[in-house]
Amino acid sequence: MKVYDCLLKDLKAAYAKSGNKVAVSYSSWPRYSKRAYVSDTHGGRFVQNYANKKGRAYGAFENAGTFPAGTALAKDSFAVSGKGKVTAGPLFIMEKMRAGFNSESGDWRYTMVMPNGSVFGTTKGKGAGNVEFCIGCHISVAPDQDSVMLLPEEYRVR
Ligand code: HEC
Repeated sequence: MKVYDCLLKDLKAAYAKSGNKVAVSYSSWPRYSKRAYVSDTHGGRFVQNYANKKGRAYGAFENAGTFPAGTALAKDSFAVSGKGKVTAGPLFIMEKMRAGFNSESGDWRYTMVMPNGSVFGTTKGKGAGNVEFCIGCHISVAPDQDSVMLLPEEYRVR
């Protein structure tokens, strides 16, 4: 999607204002979505999925197993209005922390970075309550997929 390639620079600049480590670097990581697709569970926006080196097992999808500490998964987002106006959406982040970080979230830290560079919330940190709902949904696949939901098959990079 051409729009996306052009937009990525703007998204990156917007999220980077947060100073969040993932926000600053995710756009150079391998991308596991072929193109932007609509995610109903993330505000009905277009999204794409990235994983850092430690999280490369993401590319094995259902066979990924348990992710090592240091894994970071990032999902950027944007919306397109009826008139074709594109607006940046939040950056959704999952980071696998050391064992014992937070049993309730399967040791994942969820963070939501807004397009103005503010952090809406981060597990066990500022605004933790704002990202509780992330855990509530993702934990449903904790036993089989280590809380990782995976993208629809037709958009996967293989
Ligand atoms: C109602 C369920 C639901 C909620 C709430 C939710 N997610 Fe997700 N998440 C999903 C689904 C389903 C996928 C994979 C499919 C897709 O992209 O829509 C996903 C994918 C992701 C991914 C890519 C890694 C993966 O699991 O495949 C990240 C990162 C992510 N979500 C972060 C978040 C964060 C951060 C929040 C909270 C701010 C959040 N999610 C809230 C359901 C949810």
